[in-house]
Amino acid sequence: MTTDTDKRAAAIAAVAEIQPGMLVGLGTGSTAAYAVAALAERVRAGLRITAVVTSKATETLAQSHGITVLPFDDVPQVDLTIDGVDQIDPALRAIKGGGGAMLREKIVAAASTRMIAIVDGSKRVAQLDRAIPVEILPFARAFVLRRLAELGGPAILRATRSDQDNLLADAAFGPIADPAALAAELSAIPGLLGHGLFLDEIDATCIADDSSTVWLKRS
Ligand code: A5P
Repeated sequence: MTTDTDKRAAAIAAVAEIQPGMLVGLGTGSTAAYAVAALAERVRAGLRITAVVTSKATETLAQSHGITVLPFDDVPQVDLTIDGVDQIDPALRAIKGGGGAMLREKIVAAASTRMIAIVDGSKRVAQLDRAIPVEILPFARAFVLRRLAELGGPAILRATRSDQDNLLADAAFGPIADPAALAAELSAIPGLLGHGLFLDEIDATCIADDSSTVWLKRS
């Protein structure tokens, strides 16, 4: 199977978990887009749900499919969120934010009773080692970049901004031996508004790899 076929297979399996009446959180990225398409198919077949979204891109996509999108600022709790990741380890700790939406993604994930990560086999790693996306208040740019470098993660600024019009950068820490310690250090930097380490949010992941789909659940 191709990566796209695997992304679609994982998305379809996760969307099968959505029950009538649920408020569904929709992630961002190419894998999440397959979930939006699969959900739209179920909605066209009569499934009644409402949704919240993690980015403007997903909002446009969901609405183009006729999915009812609620403003998240009115929503205290989400039933089930389905989203992609950039990397995931056996303990269901992930790096997200390749698409720059990790701040909203983490808020929606935290508000969710259950979060499913949908993954093609290439995202599965023994140890997280990808550069960590971070969102930076423009006012704090130079200071935050200095702090990241001091922590061992020199960061490269992206040309694009976030949906909140903040700066985005990728901080390269190399293999991450202690993700919890690093997440705490990142969260403590004033002006760093969000980062892509998702350590507790994911309850289950559906991994599609070369024609087989497996579920891993947080123990
Ligand atoms: C968006 O900001 C990200 O967190 C995506 O969920 C992640 O980068 C996975 O994207 P793809 O499904 O496009 O690989």
